[in-house]
Amino acid sequence: MAMQITTGTSELRDITKMERIGAHSHIRGLGLDDRLEPRENSQGLVGQAKARKAAGMILKMVQEGRIAGRAMLFAGPPSTGKTAIALAMSQSLGPDVPFTMIAASEVFSLSMSKTEALTQAFRRSIGVRIKEESEIIEGEVVEIQIDRSISGATKTGKLTIKTTDMETIYDLGTKMIEALTKEKVLAGDVIMIDKTSGKISKLGRSFARSRDYDAMGADTKFVQCPEGEIQKRKEVVHTVTLHEIDVINSRTQGFLALFAGDTGEIKPELRNQINTKVSDWREEGKAEIVPGVLFIDEVHMLDIECFSFLNRALEGDLAPLVIMASNRGMSRIRGTKFRSPHGLPMDLLDRVLIVSTKPYSDDEVQQIIGIRCQEEDVKLSPEATQVLTSMALQTTLRYALNLISCAQVLARKRKSEEVQVEDLRRGYSYFMDDKRSVQWLKEQQGNLISEEVTGGDDDVMDTDK
Ligand SMILES: Nc1ncnc2c1ncn2[C@@H]1O[C@H](COP(=O)(O)OP(=O)(O)OP(=O)(O)O)[C@@H](O)[C@H]1O
Ligand SMILES: [Mg+2]
Repeated sequence: MAMQITTGTSELRDITKMERIGAHSHIRGLGLDDRLEPRENSQGLVGQAKARKAAGMILKMVQEGRIAGRAMLFAGPPSTGKTAIALAMSQSLGPDVPFTMIAASEVFSLSMSKTEALTQAFRRSIGVRIKEESEIIEGEVVEIQIDRSISGATKTGKLTIKTTDMETIYDLGTKMIEALTKEKVLAGDVIMIDKTSGKISKLGRSFARSRDYDAMGADTKFVQCPEGEIQKRKEVVHTVTLHEIDVINSRTQGFLALFAGDTGEIKPELRNQINTKVSDWREEGKAEIVPGVLFIDEVHMLDIECFSFLNRALEGDLAPLVIMASNRGMSRIRGTKFRSPHGLPMDLLDRVLIVSTKPYSDDEVQQIIGIRCQEEDVKLSPEATQVLTSMALQTTLRYALNLISCAQVLARKRKSEEVQVEDLRRGYSYFMDDKRSVQWLKEQQGNLISEEVTGGDDDVMDTDK
């Protein structure tokens, strides 16, 4: 059965995310120079030079579109920047290279099988750059004439449009008149009309008309009157992911499912048809594959079935670069009784490039604290910075970073804009870090309800030490 495969439009990708200060919002990129050498403190990242350089090299290969089906693993103790570096990679990828981030535990959803969830994540990370030729009308508006019927219900009109070489008159229907009014098109504007979708875009005002009006906004753009034919063919390029194509073609409500996130399981036959279609398009030169990146955080939470699926999926033609992160040392592989490095089976480990991240030095911690203060708009006195750095070394980097905003609230309460040592001390006494919490639990023995865990120390958190 020959099926019509549609790809939607690039407008789908215009969903903007809400901006808030999150744990990683200070990260803007990998901070590498042209030779891929990491700068000490750049684009929000500090230190961790080896891992950043390795990430940069992999990124370069992805951008050149040379590697697919590779995997890398960031392994290291908690809060050593594994997630941060992966996010930095995503920011350096470029606008139409897809990047998907999942936490391994997302795979265990009730509405979908594990392998379906992983397949969707894989297909979300493969872009298809589609070239389409569309007919457009481009020219300078000479005159718009609108006739209303007596009742006012229907409108008809005429649009006179010209280039330097010719002039044509088009009849307008109600829809086009509305579109022109909405875009506030006037005589003297240079416009482009997409013939298939009827979309009108204003390119600017014609230079020839620049003297006609002297009250013009500062943002008025002047352009030359176009040359040649009014009707032209133009190539438009848009990138969609394989998953978007799957969803658009799998359901009656089409791409609305993408917004609702309610995509359900997609039939393998449909995926096969789409794969065949996409490879046809590739052969015809209509489409290009853009391999992207899939980041699986906390990868030790996957189980043995997922791992064996990954082994196989990485070998497919249409596989993205898979980046994984884990903070486990020797730990149990979920779904088995075996222990293995990072909680990953040996056959998968064999296929991945492993990059380790290391704990930070005093100086690096201080710089990270500095960056976070800037990001959160908090002023820290020099002594407070020293104290917070030593707190970070005694507790954890995350704890210290969390304390910044708490201390700011305390400082504001005593009507000071600058955070002093005393604010940090008070914050430190209000909130416990993990070590003090464990200590406290020991002291409280018997007072809290606890549950006996049987089966040994299989799944304990190991931190690579
Ligand atoms: N090199 C760095 N430069 C700047 N900020 C960093 C750096 N490394 C870590 N951070 C920041 O420190 C915090 C903890 O780092 P991150 O979440 O990346 O740790 P992780 O290695 O993923 O830890 P886990 O194993 O617990 O998931 C984050 O807010 C992160 O943005
Ligand atoms: Mg992490």
